[in-house]
Amino acid sequence: MKVAIIGGTGDFGLALAARLVEAGDDVVIGSRDAARAQEKANEVGCRGDGNEAAVGDAELAVLATVADAALATAQTLRAFFRSPVLSVASELEFHDRRARPPAQGRSLAERIDEVVDVPVVAGLHSLAAGKLAHGRPDEDAFVCGDDEEAKTLALELAAKVVAGRALDAGPLASARALEGLTAVIVNLNKRYKGHAGVHVTGLP
Ligand SMILES: NC(=O)c1ccc[n+]([C@@H]2O[C@H](COP(=O)([O-])OP(=O)(O)OC[C@H]3O[C@@H](n4cnc5c(N)ncnc54)[C@H](OP(=O)(O)O)[C@@H]3O)[C@@H](O)[C@H]2O)c1
Repeated sequence: MKVAIIGGTGDFGLALAARLVEAGDDVVIGSRDAARAQEKANEVGCRGDGNEAAVGDAELAVLATVADAALATAQTLRAFFRSPVLSVASELEFHDRRARPPAQGRSLAERIDEVVDVPVVAGLHSLAAGKLAHGRPDEDAFVCGDDEEAKTLALELAAKVVAGRALDAGPLASARALEGLTAVIVNLNKRYKGHAGVHVTGLP
């Protein structure tokens, strides 16, 4: 699969790129700075380019910028997208050193969906970059979306990067829960000094 990772110079994007390269995918890391993209891409053995060029011939574009910049980046790239977008971003707020999902009811992925002309799916929120960087984590990955073809592509990608299952979590509105799950995981890690991941039980 041809995958572009927008903001792939960051911890999560680079770890994702490493796993996809390992799986044999054609990966291009995107950045606001093409030289920086190539420098980081060299670390994992793939191509790097500016975000605009990176998304041009991708089959799936993973939006992996820092969460605060995801919506604006999607808006900026609107004219360049030729493929579905997979949003992995979760906005977090911190109060008394505890993580909370934002009070805003709609997910970031739903808001991104409103500003681009290609299908948007969301997923991989529960995978920690630190674990992903060292191999396929033994946990499940969730993907949600309203466009079945786009969701199938994203599930295919997810299945390559976890040792557990890639699970269809329903419509794009489920991104509210998946993005919110990040706050739960951050609080669990803090409370129990661990590296939480998710394994769903009870499914055939
Ligand atoms: N870290 C995790 O464990 C984890 C797990 C699951 C999901 N996620 C999600 O993955 C995304 C990336 O997380 P991360 O930890 O990898 O973040 P990060 O390292 O802080 O940033 C990722 C990239 O975002 C780009 N960026 C920064 N500011 C920007 C701006 N104003 N406009 C456009 N691009 C900007 C930078 O790329 P350039 O400067 O090269 O353009 C940077 O390398 C987040 O949305 C996060 O919610 C993270």
